Amino acid sequence: MFIRRTLAVLTIVVYAQAVELPQYIKDLRCSPKKDFKNCFITNGNKIIPQIAKGLPELHVPKLNPLELPFLQLISTPTLNLNLSSLKIHGLEDMIIKDVRLLENFGGVSLKLGGKNMTVEGNYNIDGKVLILPIRGNGHFSIYLKNGIYSPTVTTELQEKNGKKHYKSTGSKLNYSLEKITFDLENLFDGNEQLGDEMNKFLNENWDVLAKDFGPGIANIVSALHRRIFDEFTSEIPISDLLLN
Ligand SMILES: *[C@@H]1O[C@H](CO)[C@@H](O)[C@H](O)[C@H]1NC(C)=O
Ligand SMILES: *[C@@H]1O[C@H](CO)[C@@H](O)[C@H](O)[C@H]1NC(C)=O
Ligand SMILES: *[C@@H]1O[C@H](CO)[C@@H](O)[C@H](O)[C@H]1NC(C)=O
Repeated sequence: MFIRRTLAVLTIVVYAQAVELPQYIKDLRCSPKKDFKNCFITNGNKIIPQIAKGLPELHVPKLNPLELPFLQLISTPTLNLNLSSLKIHGLEDMIIKDVRLLENFGGVSLKLGGKNMTVEGNYNIDGKVLILPIRGNGHFSIYLKNGIYSPTVTTELQEKNGKKHYKSTGSKLNYSLEKITFDLENLFDGNEQLGDEMNKFLNENWDVLAKDFGPGIANIVSALHRRIFDEFTSEIPISDLLLN
């Protein structure tokens, strides 16, 4: 249920006219039949800084930083965490490390390296983490060190105006991180001692927290990917994305 709400917030309304992929992107298309992996890694990495500026007519938001107004990130019986005015820094420095096209246009898997990502904004938390009660609201930042992110979108083909387009049938995000560092300001109505202890506790237990909450968060992020992927590919036919 919280996923749907998240997506509603992210919906970007654009009154679409026929939109074209910019020529500098078309020029970097790769052929699935000819050394696709190396071509895509080279050309994809060339293009990330451009894409990071955003392609609003193709529903690709700006990524330097990516800004999200609101996310109901955790909504379980024991813990509620809402984030607002979010900024995600470091996406523009992601590096494509690997790519795999599934057979028969069945999807695409990427492996991305994000060395240095920071998420900041305002938080509102209430409930329990592991064994400890937690409560507060204020500014926060979370630092994600040396991440490897592997998103997969599975797809089918859809025909539009005589041209073939990708359409997603599912999405998934695998990831691993070397370390997460939390900094939540103003916990417990600004009680500094309790706040410092809680931040220390979170940082000492980052891997347990990642295990508990990571999969749910990965699902939200993955649903966002899928949404952006569909908005993009519904405009752009496969012939503009891949060479024969
Ligand atoms: C990480 O990125 C931030 C900017 O988002 C920068 O200020 C910082 O120096 C970077 N740290 C490392 C270790 O690269
Ligand atoms: C999070 O947001 C939801 C929806 O706006 C709200 O019902 C809930 O009370 C909020 N929880 C916290 C801890 O702010
Ligand atoms: C995701 O991770 C799981 C468990 O480590 C693994 O079995 C699976 O193959 C991975 N999937 C992708 C697409 O990387």
